[in-house]
Amino acid sequence: MASIKRKQIAAANWKMNLTLDQGKALVGDLLSFGTEPGEQQQVILAVPFPYLLAVNELLASKERYTVSAQNIYYQKSGAYTGEVSAEMIRSIGVGYTIIGHSERREYFSENNEMLAAKVDLSLEYDLVPIFCCGEPLSIRESGNQEEYVSNQLKESLFHLPEEKMANFIIAYEPIWAIGTGKTASSEQAQEMHAWIRKVLAEKYGEETAQTVSILYGGSVKGSNAKELFSQPDVDGGLVGGASLNAADFDTIIRSLK
Ligand code: PGA
Repeated sequence: MASIKRKQIAAANWKMNLTLDQGKALVGDLLSFGTEPGEQQQVILAVPFPYLLAVNELLASKERYTVSAQNIYYQKSGAYTGEVSAEMIRSIGVGYTIIGHSERREYFSENNEMLAAKVDLSLEYDLVPIFCCGEPLSIRESGNQEEYVSNQLKESLFHLPEEKMANFIIAYEPIWAIGTGKTASSEQAQEMHAWIRKVLAEKYGEETAQTVSILYGGSVKGSNAKELFSQPDVDGGLVGGASLNAADFDTIIRSLK
């Protein structure tokens, strides 16, 4: 295979799980495997807000392991009780945030326009967004997944200039595969990832599209990661359930190209 220039990424999404002690123990267990990701590889742990500082500190000596927020608010600052801004995340030394996870879209009514504002704020404060897209089951069953996902990309990302899109991270997460144990086949994943890259290439040019890391999410496990990640346009995974098990997530890290 020709050498791949874009980053290969194993991203953990802890969601709303674990206490601080449990989270620290999980990170300790994960690091105890001693896996050193390669030069083009990156491990990102998206942990709950209250744990960002502590986990960041545990990873301080590990160049290729880093933390991410799971969300930011779509307004810059002000009277939004309980919300967390991009600037706050940047101010504690965190460099990534997930944006537009399907659970946020579904349970917190986040729409494409709101997510465009979040993408802008994350870039303004120098956070790398991990932008999630993906279709629900009904759309997959009607065969309209390509149109649905390209619309998500167009409405939330395509206002960005080309230089902002270079080295971007997109996570394709078919909703029917999240937390269901029903993984997309590696062919289904590759098909959608290639489609996403094509949509990006049409807007930003092939060269820029080739720099974007496109992660697959939805029931990634130690047992299926290698097969999924071996696909040419699958640049790693965004992992929920299996990221809560250190051995499983370590296997996923070691499955990166
Ligand atoms: P899952 O979640 O791995 O538990 O399916 C993935 C995600 O929601 O990011």
